Amino acid sequence: MNVIIVPNAEEMGKQAAQLIAAEMKKTSPFVLGLATGSTPLTLYKELIRLNKAGEIDFSKVSSFNLDEYVGLPGTHDQSYRYFMNQNLFDHVNIDKARTHVPDGMAKDPTAHCAAYEQMMREAGGVDYQVLGIGSNGHIGFNEPGSSLASRTRVVKLKESTIKDNSRFFAKIEDVPTQAITMGIGTILDSKHAVLVANGANKAEIVAAAIEGSVTAWVPASALQFHLAITWVITQDAATKLKGKY
Ligand code: GLP
Repeated sequence: MNVIIVPNAEEMGKQAAQLIAAEMKKTSPFVLGLATGSTPLTLYKELIRLNKAGEIDFSKVSSFNLDEYVGLPGTHDQSYRYFMNQNLFDHVNIDKARTHVPDGMAKDPTAHCAAYEQMMREAGGVDYQVLGIGSNGHIGFNEPGSSLASRTRVVKLKESTIKDNSRFFAKIEDVPTQAITMGIGTILDSKHAVLVANGANKAEIVAAAIEGSVTAWVPASALQFHLAITWVITQDAATKLKGKY
């Protein structure tokens, strides 16, 4: 596990984008695993800048997002499909037909999850997975207690997640209570991964995930089993780490 501590969110985005860009230049076609939340925004801004500057090319890139709310269509401004279009896909030369976000409106969600896994396998697996971390340690929407071997499936959101994410909705009752998420096992299959974290409110959970025991109660601690993961963390999110990095 590689840990990089940076002064601020801009630097976090730049460093994470450089890691991904280096692999993108070596591998074609390339499969990106993508995350939502506010933390990866500086990373996506930097990927857009590198694409516009001609340093990276998305024409042979396909993507798979980690998760989506159940019950929100891709046109809803809080859906993760909408977020990805707004914050990345609409600004780079990616073929939207090759961008995949779980379908929160799928008629048969179980079959949809199995098909999503199959599509990832057929694409050759994820080359680089982007991750954020929830304040309760979730990755994607794998809430505490998720099996460390879990695959893409429908999950119930914890109260703490509904509360955290209610800031994006008019009222807390509008936050969906279920989501489709890649599993922890799915995430561990990625060839490379980068987890970005910033803000003092993430300091405890970042330390628990990096330096604590591996436990389903801190889903991100499973990343200790990932062979090629880099944590890019801002100073304020790194204050509880005991090791020297
Ligand atoms: C959501 C997403 C996660 C994300 C988390 C943290 O719940 N499903 O993938 O990591 O929020 O979000 P933020 O980066 O806004 O703190």
